[in-house]
Amino acid sequence: MRILTTVAEMTALERGSRRGAVLTMGALHAGHGELMRRSRELIGPDGLLIVTVFVNPTQFGDPKDLENYPRTLEADSALCEAAGVDVLFAPTVQEMYPPGVPLPQFSAGWLGSVLEGRSRPGHFDAVASVVHRLLSITQADVTCFGEKDYQQLVVVRQMVHEAGLNVEVVGVPTVRDDDGLALSSRNIRLSAAARSAAVVIPRALMAVAESAAATGNADEACAAGNAILARQPLLQIDYLVITDVELGPAPATGAARALVAATLDGVRLIDNVP
Ligand code: PAF
Repeated sequence: MRILTTVAEMTALERGSRRGAVLTMGALHAGHGELMRRSRELIGPDGLLIVTVFVNPTQFGDPKDLENYPRTLEADSALCEAAGVDVLFAPTVQEMYPPGVPLPQFSAGWLGSVLEGRSRPGHFDAVASVVHRLLSITQADVTCFGEKDYQQLVVVRQMVHEAGLNVEVVGVPTVRDDDGLALSSRNIRLSAAARSAAVVIPRALMAVAESAAATGNADEACAAGNAILARQPLLQIDYLVITDVELGPAPATGAARALVAATLDGVRLIDNVP
């Protein structure tokens, strides 16, 4: 595995094989491992699997959050190596945002102001813009994103469409712990009590999905999920909603998504299911 840090080194890579890119901010876990595995499956054994590790400052609202974000490049590099990654791209902020160089900026539009965007103004615009830059640098043919951050996946698909990038965006189902909790870099910040309480989140989502399938009624399905969340006093619910697959209003019939956000012990957790 090669570790590259400059755009010049990345663009000098020989073209030819199909490229897959997994974009991350590091602190890699088995969820990222699954994105790498799926990317390899899509590009084949001769494809070039690229993982980017870049803690993007523009997508953090709170400077403390950015400062405290875990930076574990050595461990990340070991995980990538074991996962058969060909190139680990870990640029500096200067390299990604060279002073005085105007870079394409994207707006997430209304998608940027709902659900997660409501409490993180500008976050999805910054995500769309940095993803555009990373996909342009890596020249990926395919990129895998976790469904865990479902809103991010929808925003990235929209940006790729608007920008006319020639890259296939593939959503990868969420990897879960044995009790159903979605894997997330934030889970390590949960106290033992909060960690065991967190299991109500996937349970509530399961109840929503089962009720929606049985009754076809979004309000009834959300009520079933909320009843489960309400039983856990440590949990503060931000939202539990059903939307269509593009995050618009819940459809009367057909495919839909249930999404939840809640805070436990000061740690914000999000999850969703089809
Ligand atoms: O999901 C993430 O880790 C980040 O939002 C991403 C896509 C790497 C952009 O910085």
